[in-house]
Amino acid sequence: MLEKMLNGMPLHAQRKVEATMDNINTLTNIKNKRVMASLGPSVVRGMFRKQGKKYDNTGMVSEHAVDFDWTYKMDFPEMQELYRRAVGNQWDGDKHIDWSIDVDPLNPHVPIIADRFIPMETLREHGVKLTTTEFREFNFNIACWILSQMMHGEQGALYASCQVTEAVRWFDGKLYGATQVVDEARHLEVFMRYLDTKLGKLYDVNDNMFSILDGLLTDSRWDIKFLGMQIMVEGLALGAFTTVHNMSKEPLLKSILRYVIQDEARHVHYGVLALKKTFEEELTPSERRERQEWAFEVAVLMRNRFLGHEIYEEWFEGIMTRKTWNKLISESDAMNTLRKTMFKRLVPNLECIGLLPDSMLKHYEEAGLTHYMGGKSAMELTDADMMADLH
Ligand SMILES: [Fe+2]
Ligand SMILES: [Fe+2]
Repeated sequence: MLEKMLNGMPLHAQRKVEATMDNINTLTNIKNKRVMASLGPSVVRGMFRKQGKKYDNTGMVSEHAVDFDWTYKMDFPEMQELYRRAVGNQWDGDKHIDWSIDVDPLNPHVPIIADRFIPMETLREHGVKLTTTEFREFNFNIACWILSQMMHGEQGALYASCQVTEAVRWFDGKLYGATQVVDEARHLEVFMRYLDTKLGKLYDVNDNMFSILDGLLTDSRWDIKFLGMQIMVEGLALGAFTTVHNMSKEPLLKSILRYVIQDEARHVHYGVLALKKTFEEELTPSERRERQEWAFEVAVLMRNRFLGHEIYEEWFEGIMTRKTWNKLISESDAMNTLRKTMFKRLVPNLECIGLLPDSMLKHYEEAGLTHYMGGKSAMELTDADMMADLH
């Protein structure tokens, strides 16, 4: 029906309607009313008003409470241990990374990211004929898009970790939080430097990424901020960094990701430590239920919606429909690997902090996520486990 209607429209109008329908789809896929009420305005700001793309700067207002602790009591030993480890493992993005490595982004023997997103044959089957040189360029663009989103995500993580440091209730947690602020600044610095000096192409923030960051940074509830940033987004980041590391042959990028992954694993650990205690001891059943629903909807949003529309609009808009692109990219080999890596880490953490009760299982089953249950949570994962995933 929609396709019939679109066929009668001028091309530019068709594209606008397709994009709007796709965004409406994202909104209507959020089934839970409470979650919709908290995330809906951010989705509108990101996907419909394009606030991450329209301006050079975006202001966000957060009403979280800053918690002062005048007792200075250091009574959370596991958090203290994490803080010590974080202080001891600081690295310098300028000195520890060999920036003298020469990067040729179009060298097929040293790909920035392997060409497993959409193979050339699949594109051909959908009426898109690219020469080998164009296809190489297309893959290079995908790499730039992914790394740009990582950089934008790191900017969000920098501000979220500042907010979390203010809001968290344990003194040890505040000290730890400050180390994360420095970590995120360093991540932002190294991704920015790699994109700027080695690849030379930067993409705008993805609307979906903007919506999630906006939702977290403007939410006044500290534990939702924590859950979103330290468990969900950090989980997504870990999955993405590991996948890209393993799909890349470029030594400089691989070494950057290796350093970043070690820090991010600590960040997820921080989230699990803090939330396990809070969710077990402080929430009413209704508040706990709300967090369970929120985590599920955000997990689904993250699984379904990072579809590289900026690449689609630049390369294929008017050549294939947005719906076809969504299908091709979501079903690609690389996306499957990304989802697997991400949920392998995320699901055990949700389980560990009590957000996967029996009542939520059927939703996770329907979304195909239950086979990641029972893995190691961030509390049990060692550096060796993390490094074993990298090749
Ligand atoms: Fe980071
Ligand atoms: Fe992080």
